[in-house]
Amino acid sequence: MSKNILSDEHNLLLNLLKKEISTYFLPGEPEDYSHGVSHTDRVFRLVHILQKKEGGDLLVLAISALLHDIARAQEEREECVDHAIRGGELARIILAKHELPDDIIEQIVYCIQNHGANKKGKTIKSRILRDADKLDSFGAIAISRVIASTL
Ligand SMILES: [Fe+2]
Ligand SMILES: [Fe+2]
Repeated sequence: MSKNILSDEHNLLLNLLKKEISTYFLPGEPEDYSHGVSHTDRVFRLVHILQKKEGGDLLVLAISALLHDIARAQEEREECVDHAIRGGELARIILAKHELPDDIIEQIVYCIQNHGANKKGKTIKSRILRDADKLDSFGAIAISRVIASTL
C-alpha cells in the first residue's frame, strides 16, 4: 500500500479515533476555536494537502493531526505543563489499543510532541503537522477565531 493512500482499514481507524477523541475536548463547554474539534478537523484537512506536496506517510500524519491537541484541555486545567508532551503520551496509550505497529505509534508520538511553534522536530511529518497547525492560526480562520473568542 502506498504511503500516500489510506486503505479502507485505515479510514475505519481514523473514524474510530475521531469518535474516541471527542471526549478529550472540554465536554459541555462551547467549541474552542483555537484548539478544539473544529481546529482539529482543519489541521486534519491541511496535513492531507501539505502531504501531497511534501510527502511523508499519510497515515502517520492523519492520526497525528487528529490527536495533536488531545491534552490541550488538560493543560488549560493545569493538569499538565505541556499539552504536546502529554498529548504524545496519551496518543501512545490510545493507539496501543488499535494494534498499530510500535514504529508507527512512535512516529505519531514524535509528531505530536513536536507540534508547538517553538518545537524543532526534524522529520518531514513533524514539520508538516507543525506547519498545518500554524497555518490554521493565519488568515480568515484567525479572524473568525478572534471574533468567536470575544462574543
Ligand atoms: Fe497544540
Ligand atoms: Fe493545534
